[in-house]
Formats: sequence, structure tokens, C-alpha cells
Amino acid sequence: MGEGERVTVRTLLRMKRRGEKIVMVTAYDTPTARLVDEAGVDVILVGDSLGMVVLGLPSTLQVTMDDMVRHTAAVARAEPRAMIVGDMPFMSYEASVSEAVRNAGRLLSAGADAVKIEGGGSYSDVIKALTRAGIPVMAHVGLTPQKHKLLGGYRLIGKRAEEAREVIEEALGAEEAGAFAVVIEFTAWEVARKITEKLSIPTICIGSGPYCDGQVLVIHDLLGLTPSPPPFAKRYADVASVIREAVRRYAEEVRGGAFPGPEHYWGMKQGEAERLEEMLSGGKPTPRGSSAERGQD
Ligand code: KIV
Repeated sequence: MGEGERVTVRTLLRMKRRGEKIVMVTAYDTPTARLVDEAGVDVILVGDSLGMVVLGLPSTLQVTMDDMVRHTAAVARAEPRAMIVGDMPFMSYEASVSEAVRNAGRLLSAGADAVKIEGGGSYSDVIKALTRAGIPVMAHVGLTPQKHKLLGGYRLIGKRAEEAREVIEEALGAEEAGAFAVVIEFTAWEVARKITEKLSIPTICIGSGPYCDGQVLVIHDLLGLTPSPPPFAKRYADVASVIREAVRRYAEEVRGGAFPGPEHYWGMKQGEAERLEEMLSGGKPTPRGSSAERGQD
């Protein structure tokens, strides 16, 4: 792929064929999207993890379409080279296929290149309708956090053969319905490897081992900004400590008078402070450009 050329569905399919790993990471705002794009990721996921890592909500179940549209638009304003995938939040694709199409359409209008739904073959009607409308769909199998209550928590999926087979069938069904990629979250690695071997569309894994076409992490976990990250997340930096230390020094300098220093503030034009004094004390101000001011600009 040439420098600056945007990543598309076709790029990702080509990467799978060539055995090039796909790098996906979440972002929810313009500056972060700009930074992860500069770091060279292939896909930016505006995940509904937004609810927990940015909005302070207890789970993804409280995230709304309006939240997703606002944050997808913020990411799109960074004009990244990476593909932007907008997550469809809880209950935005359940009630009817037409509502799913309308909601996915809002994410594309906000700047997404594709949408992600939690599910695979069991959502083939939704995947087919979105694809027919020209909306690329990324499926999501294994641990689907929007169903954590039904699944019995955020647990490893596919430890037993029966459950593993269900996940594999769900992924195969996603490809058959027209999905262009599948996220595999927190499954036994054998399950993810089997899916990756069987599918011709790319698999992008999180907590499901290395035998996938790509990996995804939540940016706050990667940067060390989440107090209790999931066990499969790797922390690549301790940005929380950097922020705490910077703000602690700022507070110390404000309290001690070291900030703002002379390089951080500016005064009036020469003579203007005196004129202001005269004005405020009720006197007649010296006309502008008088000898008191001349040559002092
Ligand atoms: O919402 C999200 O960030 C996700 C990833 C964990 C895949 O769905």
C-alpha cells in the first residue's frame, strides 16, 4: 500500500492473503486518533468500550447511538489513513433490520468506514441488510460484552468443545452473510486458530492468542490508563503516572508562584497602562499617539 493511501476493506483482505498482521486499536477523540494514525495502525475502532474507559459507565450497556455518533465524528475529524470502524451499541441492531440499517447509516454519515456488531451468523439478516446498503460489517464472536449477563460474566469462551464449535459456526456464518472481518474476543486460542484457518476474511483477536490475522487492544489498557484492565491486555506505557506527575508539578508551581513565568504572559502597549490609569481615575486620558506614546509601539 502506498504512503497516505487510506486503508479499505480490500487492503485488509490483501493483508490476510499476504500474511501481514493487521493492527487495530481503539480511539474515541480527535487527538488520540491523530496519534494512533501517526503510529501507523491499520484500523481505528471507535469501540463501545467508550462507555467504560471514557464515560465512566459501569458497562457497555449504557452506551447510546448518540454517544457513538459523536465520538465517531471526533475520530473522523483526525482524517486518519487508517480505516475507521464504528461500534454499534447495545440495542441498536436488535429491534429490526431497518433500525439496524438506519443506525449504521448514522455512523457512516459521521465518518466511519465500516461498523462492528457483536455477533456473527446469528445476525446474518442484519449483516446482509447492511452489506446490501453498502455498509461494510465487522462481526464479533467469542466474548461479546453486550451479552455478558447472558454469558455469565466476562469469561473465557470455548474451553469446551461444544462451546468452541458454536463460536466457530458463528464466525463461519458471519463470513457467509458478507462480513469483511471478524473480531474474536477472549476465546481459547485453539478456537481462534481454527476460525482463522477456515475463514478467507481476516480475524482480529483480543485475548484469543497469536494465531489470528491481527490484534486489537483498547488504547486506555495499552497506555496504562485503566485501573483494572482485562487479564489479556498488555500495558505498553504508564501514561497515568506521566499525567499525575505533570499535573502535580503544575499545581506545585501555581501554589508556589512559579507559573505563569514571564514567557507565559503579555502586557499592554507602552503608555497604554498609564492611559488606562487616567481613565479609571476619571481624568482626561492623554490622546493616543501623544508624545507619551510615540515611538513606543
Ligand atoms: O468496544 C471495544 O473496544 C471492542 C474491542 C474490545 C474489540 O469491542
